[in-house]
Amino acid sequence: SPYPVEIQPTLHPNGTKQCFPQTIIIGVRKGGTRALIEMLSLHPDIVAAESEVHFFDWESNFEKGLYWYISQMPFSYPHQITVEKTPAYFTSSKVPERIYQINSDTKLLLILRDPTERVLSDYTQVFYNRLQKHKHSQPIETVLIKNGEINVDYKAINRSLYYIHMQKWLKYFPLTHIHLVDGDQLIRDPLPEMKKVEKFLSLSPQINASNFYFNKTKGFFCLRDNGRERCLHESKGRAHPQVAPTVLAKLYQFFHQPNKRLFELVGRTFDWH
Ligand code: A3P
Repeated sequence: SPYPVEIQPTLHPNGTKQCFPQTIIIGVRKGGTRALIEMLSLHPDIVAAESEVHFFDWESNFEKGLYWYISQMPFSYPHQITVEKTPAYFTSSKVPERIYQINSDTKLLLILRDPTERVLSDYTQVFYNRLQKHKHSQPIETVLIKNGEINVDYKAINRSLYYIHMQKWLKYFPLTHIHLVDGDQLIRDPLPEMKKVEKFLSLSPQINASNFYFNKTKGFFCLRDNGRERCLHESKGRAHPQVAPTVLAKLYQFFHQPNKRLFELVGRTFDWH
């Protein structure tokens, strides 16, 4: 690697420094990326960047250079692993090469979810973002369907065509460097998925059943960290809009072939519609 991957911007007598993340959560948007990074942070050897850095996908940030990126990372001890998550990386075509150029040994985490569910979640996210700006949204069926067919120009549909984006990552990173997390499983039963992530990152087994409890009011698992209990933000786990059964069936049908192509690419299947 032509770049130094760690810096010591200030003298920290406690021996911590900021470094290039050994692992990056690359997506997918609405796949459960926040849950994943929060659950991973339960591990004492993990330190996570607080916000989405958007270094590799936003030109205005990429131009600031590697030292800027590293300066966005939390301080860590030598035995710890730094992680950041920017869900837009997965679908941004320049990102795989850019990460590869800096450190081809970076371990990538990708959390996927039923592509139809992901579309509805994506729509819901945009709906609330617009609402905050007092902007009106088109009804979901209007954006999903164009001339009686699934509207492939709708961004949320494109983002759920996982195989297209995956092909671009596999040009640079072997499958051994990309761990797929089952986002639907992470919702239903987070512990087994997190144990697999621990293994992939060669972490000691520390995350355990007592770290999770089901919150009936939220309808999701919440986290218990050193006795402190917390759920994810209210924007995580929102109700999705009702979609006409015929449109829903069309969506499931639409994703059938793309899903098969992804399964072939990654050598495994997911339990999707
Ligand atoms: P919905 O809000 O559509 O249900 P991201 O963090 O990538 O934006 O993903 C958000 C999704 O994470 C949520 O989508 C939710 O389904 C999922 N999720 C997974 N585990 C969760 C948890 N324990 N609490 C809340 N949301 C969780």
